[in-house]
Amino acid sequence: MIVTAPSQDQSKNGPRAINMNTDIPGILRLLELVFGASLDADGQRMFAHTANAAQSPAILWRLSPAAAKLSLGFVWEADGRIVGNVTVLTTEMPGRFLVVNVAVHPDYRRQNIARLLMKQVENLVQQRGGNQILLQVVKQNNAAVDLYKSLNYSTIGSMTNWSTSISRLRRLDLNLENAGPPIRELKRHEWREAYRLDRLALHDDLHWPEHLKPDAYKTGFWASVGNLLNGRQTETWVTGSAQNKLVGLAKISTEWGRSHEMTLRVHPSWQGRLERPLLAKLIRRLQNMPRRNVQIEHPDDDELVNALLQEANFQPRRTLTHMRLDLK
Ligand SMILES: CC(C)(COP(=O)(O)OP(=O)(O)OC[C@H]1O[C@@H](n2cnc3c(N)ncnc32)[C@H](O)[C@@H]1OP(=O)(O)O)[C@@H](O)C(=O)NCCC(=O)NCCS
Repeated sequence: MIVTAPSQDQSKNGPRAINMNTDIPGILRLLELVFGASLDADGQRMFAHTANAAQSPAILWRLSPAAAKLSLGFVWEADGRIVGNVTVLTTEMPGRFLVVNVAVHPDYRRQNIARLLMKQVENLVQQRGGNQILLQVVKQNNAAVDLYKSLNYSTIGSMTNWSTSISRLRRLDLNLENAGPPIRELKRHEWREAYRLDRLALHDDLHWPEHLKPDAYKTGFWASVGNLLNGRQTETWVTGSAQNKLVGLAKISTEWGRSHEMTLRVHPSWQGRLERPLLAKLIRRLQNMPRRNVQIEHPDDDELVNALLQEANFQPRRTLTHMRLDLK
C-alpha cells in the first residue's frame, strides 16, 4: 500500500500524507518561515515565484512544477495549520529515496513532531520496497544531526562548498618538488577509467542527488552537440601513473550564466602528491575564462585541499553532511 492518498479528516492534528489539493500554500509558508534566510539562490527564486502562495487558490498549485516536487511526503497539522513537513524524493536508482524539507514551526518544536514525521517516511519507503534513505544536513545543525542520529541514520561524510571569483583567484606556487607527474587532457577513450577513478576517490553517496553516472566523463558526438546547445563546456585534466593508470583528475565545467565548477579527484594511494599541481593547473586555466564566480564541492576532511583552496583565495560557504539509513 502506498501512503500518499489525501487524508479524509483534514482537521485532525498529527501527521498525514500531503494533500496536493489543499496543503501546498501552507507548506510553502512553513518552508519560507523555517528556511527563508538560509535559502540558496535557487530556493530564493522559487519563493519569489511563489510569494503569492497564500493568495492563490490551493487547487491551482497542482499545476505548478515547484509544487510537484513537494507532492510526496507528510505534513503535521495543528490548530488548523501546517506546522511540520517532510518531503520524499525518488531517485533514478530503485530503492534509493531522499528526504528534504524537514521543517517544524518554531512554536511546535521538541514535541516529537519531526521524529514522528521521519518515522512515517521510513514506513512509506518500506512500503515502496525501498532500502535506503539519504539526506543532507548542514554540518553545524546539531538539532537536526541529533534527530537523524537518534533515528539510526549514519554519517557518510561532509562536502564543503567553496567559492570565489576569477578576479580574486590567486595562483598556487609550484616548484620542482611539488610539480608532480605531467598533466595532460583526458583522452576521449579514457572516460571509463575517469569514472572508475572518481568512484575510488569519492564515496558514491557524496554525489547528490544522484550517484555519478557511468558516462559522466564521456565526450562523444551527441554529448558535444548537447553541450553546444546548452552553452556548456568542460575540460578535464589528468595525471597518469608510471603504468599509465589515471591517478588524478581535475575538471572545469562552465555553463552559460552560471558559476564555473571545478572537480578534483585523487586516487587514495596518490593523495598528498597531486592536489597542488592539479589545482594549480585549473587556476591557470580559469584565469583565461569568462570572469565569473568559481565553485568547488570537496570533502571537508581533506585538510590539504582545504589549505590549498584558502591559499587560492576561496572561501568556504557551507558544509553539508550526508547521512543514510539502510532499511532491512
Ligand atoms: C530540526 C527540527 C526539524 C527538529 O524538529 P522537532 O520537531 O523539534 O524535533 P523532535 O521534537 O522530533 O526531536 C527529536 C530528537 O531530535 C533531537 N533534537 C531536536 N531538536 C533539538 C535541539 N534543539 N537540540 C538538540 N537536539 C535536538 C533530539 O535528539 C530529539 O529527541 P529528544 O527530544 O528526545 O531529545 C526543527 O528544529 C527545525 O525545523 N529546525 C529548522 C529546520 C531544519 O534545520 N531542518 C533540518 C534540515 S536537514
